[in-house]
Amino acid sequence: RKRVVVFISGGGSNMMALVAAAKAPGFPAEIVGVISDKADAGGLEKAAAEGISTFAFVRKDYTSKEAHEAAIFEALDRLSPDILCLAGYMRLLSATFIQRYEGRMINIHPSLLPLFPGLHTHQRAIDAGMRITGCTVHFVTEGMDEGPAIGQAAVPILSGDTADTLAARVLTVEHQLYPQALRLFAEGKVRMEGGKAVGTGVSAQPNSN
Ligand code: GAR
Repeated sequence: RKRVVVFISGGGSNMMALVAAAKAPGFPAEIVGVISDKADAGGLEKAAAEGISTFAFVRKDYTSKEAHEAAIFEALDRLSPDILCLAGYMRLLSATFIQRYEGRMINIHPSLLPLFPGLHTHQRAIDAGMRITGCTVHFVTEGMDEGPAIGQAAVPILSGDTADTLAARVLTVEHQLYPQALRLFAEGKVRMEGGKAVGTGVSAQPNSN
């Protein structure tokens, strides 16, 4: 089984979806650690309650981004992960960090990339008059939210939606998509090659969300 470390900044519901999926017999990956940049991230307690090693590296405890990431590297060297999963990790990683794990690091983003990279995705999708949005699991490359997609799932935008109601609808689908995408990646069915995702992806169009 591939060793996976998950990066979070908040509630960690996607991280917990990965933890739950990894309990299924035959799942090709196990979650061996959870790293947060917030000491009070709700996901840390949930992961610890599952017996998973947890770490908080708070940026202001370090003099520089390099020092912060060096501390994270040390923890990672001990955990020796095969795969890093970003799951609501709200801090940009340096080019050095990304190069070190390129092809081994994936992220979930709450929009149908390349639409709406960055923050406030749901409000921006509503403001743009979109009728469909969704989420994307993609390989992490140096351009923020620009790496090739492993999987996407679509979600309708309903009249009367607010950023919050839409975020909640997308989040339930994120919890389905991320484990499916991790499974494919951990099984070696999809990989990054020449800046493209090669192999099998996930195209999910749930009909009742
Ligand atoms: C998720 O919606 C995730 O897609 C998003 O943050 C939320 C984290 O929720 N990620 C980003 O916006 C990345 N820029 P969670 O902590 O409950 O998984």
